[in-house]
Amino acid sequence: MRLALTAITDELRRLKAGGVVSVSVSDEGLAALRGAVRASAAPPADRPPEAPPARARAIAERAAVAPAVPVPVVSLPAGNKRARWEALHQLVVDDPVCRAKLRPGKKVVLGVGDLDARIMFVGEAPGAEEEVQGEPFVGPAGQLLNKMISGMALSRAEVYIGNIMNWRPDLPVGADGVQTGNRPPTDAEMAHCLPYLRAQIEIVSPGLLVALGASAAKALLGPKAFGALGEVRGRWHDFGGLPLMVTYHPSYILRNPTNRTKRLIWEDLLKVMERASLPMTDKQRAFFL
Ligand code: URA
Repeated sequence: MRLALTAITDELRRLKAGGVVSVSVSDEGLAALRGAVRASAAPPADRPPEAPPARARAIAERAAVAPAVPVPVVSLPAGNKRARWEALHQLVVDDPVCRAKLRPGKKVVLGVGDLDARIMFVGEAPGAEEEVQGEPFVGPAGQLLNKMISGMALSRAEVYIGNIMNWRPDLPVGADGVQTGNRPPTDAEMAHCLPYLRAQIEIVSPGLLVALGASAAKALLGPKAFGALGEVRGRWHDFGGLPLMVTYHPSYILRNPTNRTKRLIWEDLLKVMERASLPMTDKQRAFFL
């Protein structure tokens, strides 16, 4: 049994190295895994079983239990883009599920940027800085995203940046009441927030979408569309008639800052520039993030 678990762990490490930040596991699969872990880690009868680390347990439980979360039906009012965006923001603020998921004092996060943008970036979920400021990509991953955008000779204000999720997926807090670290959203959580992203796409009406990382790709392409991110990264896909490029999440580059990963993400962005008919210099072609 230990051998099988080692093989699974090795495979997960391999996927992680390839850019995958989450994998779907069916309820049955998870129950089987839990049984195997319990069997292989069974303590001697005279020793009480140890609790798994709280964070790992919380991630596994959220993925496994994934309670049915109602999917909102979004109906946007008539009006100009700004008025429709404001109305959408209010819908998210008032959404009982979003409200229930927020920690005290934290904010829901909707996209930001030019409502006439040609390019819309889609990330995963707010992190610590984002839930405080109520704005996507304002932490370390956001700094790198800004750098990627300026490499394209654009500014943050000239594109639209959204997330699949409108709240920061929860993990147990420490004694100080502060959450350390992030977890990928569950399929049910993403399904709940997707209508709000669709509504932003409807308002902005961009020429193309860029999915940053596996969660965004999974939400936009479907939970069963791929196993490893490498299967869909760097290629054009379709999302409701819009061209969709899948690339790495900036956080992945922060964790793996090799020339190879930087060049790969930049090559994806060159394809985006080409598709968006942006001018491209030789310097940009040879650029490394
Ligand atoms: N990562 C994301 O995917 N989105 C954010 O807003 C911040 C970090």
